[in-house]
Amino acid sequence: MEGRKGTPFRHAVVTGGAGFLGSHLCEALLAGGTEVTCVDDLCTAHPDHAAALADLPGLTMVRADVTEPFDVAGEVDLVLHFASPASPADYLRLPLHTLETGSLGTRNALALARRHGARFVLASTSEVYGDPLEHPQSERYWGNVNPVGPRSVYDEAKRFSEALTVAEGEVNGTDTGIVRLFNTYGPRMRGHDGRAVPTFVRQALAGEPLTVTGDGRQTRSLTYVSDTVAGVLALAASDLRTPVNIGNPTEITMRELARTVIRLTGSSSTVRMVDRPVDDPMVRRPDITLARGKLQWEPVVEAADGLARTIAWFAGRRADAEQPADAAQQAGAEQPADAARPAG
Ligand SMILES: NC(=O)c1ccc[n+]([C@@H]2O[C@H](COP(=O)([O-])OP(=O)(O)OC[C@H]3O[C@@H](n4cnc5c(N)ncnc54)[C@H](O)[C@@H]3O)[C@@H](O)[C@H]2O)c1
Repeated sequence: MEGRKGTPFRHAVVTGGAGFLGSHLCEALLAGGTEVTCVDDLCTAHPDHAAALADLPGLTMVRADVTEPFDVAGEVDLVLHFASPASPADYLRLPLHTLETGSLGTRNALALARRHGARFVLASTSEVYGDPLEHPQSERYWGNVNPVGPRSVYDEAKRFSEALTVAEGEVNGTDTGIVRLFNTYGPRMRGHDGRAVPTFVRQALAGEPLTVTGDGRQTRSLTYVSDTVAGVLALAASDLRTPVNIGNPTEITMRELARTVIRLTGSSSTVRMVDRPVDDPMVRRPDITLARGKLQWEPVVEAADGLARTIAWFAGRRADAEQPADAAQQAGAEQPADAARPAG
């Protein structure tokens, strides 16, 4: 990660630390001089990335499911609660685990922070806004979520996690913060996790058609991972307790994203339109006034740059163990996995 400053924490626990965002956060904390304990059950982590992380000096890897109470050795002054299936492909194959991780897992991570007197940061999501009726979405917007639709296992788990986090702060005085992350992309995403960027990049590099859902006019805001990491660490170092949007306010349609990926990869792939998933949001763009004002944070990586770095990383990994690892995770489904959700 570039331009990392020292972090104010001595020992951080990162739940879900072996995943895409968690692994980048662990590395950034280590680079800032913080000792890190990563707690992860590896249900959606790529085994190669988890193994590489476990070798880093200053990092302790604990394989545990946070839905069970857990503790770590030594004093802890920061808990980043990032454990949760996050891609539509994952939470649709692990619906109960997703709900339990958002509820029991968040309760257990909060209890850890309370016991240690640590700052706690919940990784929430723009999905709490659902298919938004207000655009762009500020933290004051309450959302438009279908509580029983297929995506509800993720959206409602995160909404419950937020409520639990706020209640914990009010009742027990635990120092809690909530970061509402918008779609983040970058190296270490899994090519088959169903999210738009890795799906398009994988398809473009393989010369396959890029599967754009619906008419492709739905928008997302895409944040490069180093920007998201900087935002999360800024929130962790602050005393903000109310939710803060971290995301890139530049909006892009899925059709435009597919074309950009084709251009940047130099691929001969075409675009193929497929059915739009149920409850797929039509628009998504953060209002980041709060993050700008209170955290002096805003994204700095341009989409063309971030996508080029991501493409280079995927290109370097082609024909490796990515597909079998994803296939193994599919085999652990609570129910048959749904089709990929490129717009997620
Ligand atoms: N990547 C994004 O664009 C994005 C956007 C919004 C919110 N988030 C949130 O950020 C967090 C990380 O997302 P990600 O994209 O890195 O996903 P990811 O699937 O790569 O990482 C999630 C990690 O959590 C672990 N995990 C899941 N359930 C667990 C449990 N019960 N106990 C222990 N470990 C468990 C998984 O094994 C995995 O390593 C999630 O909470 C997600 O909701 C991510």
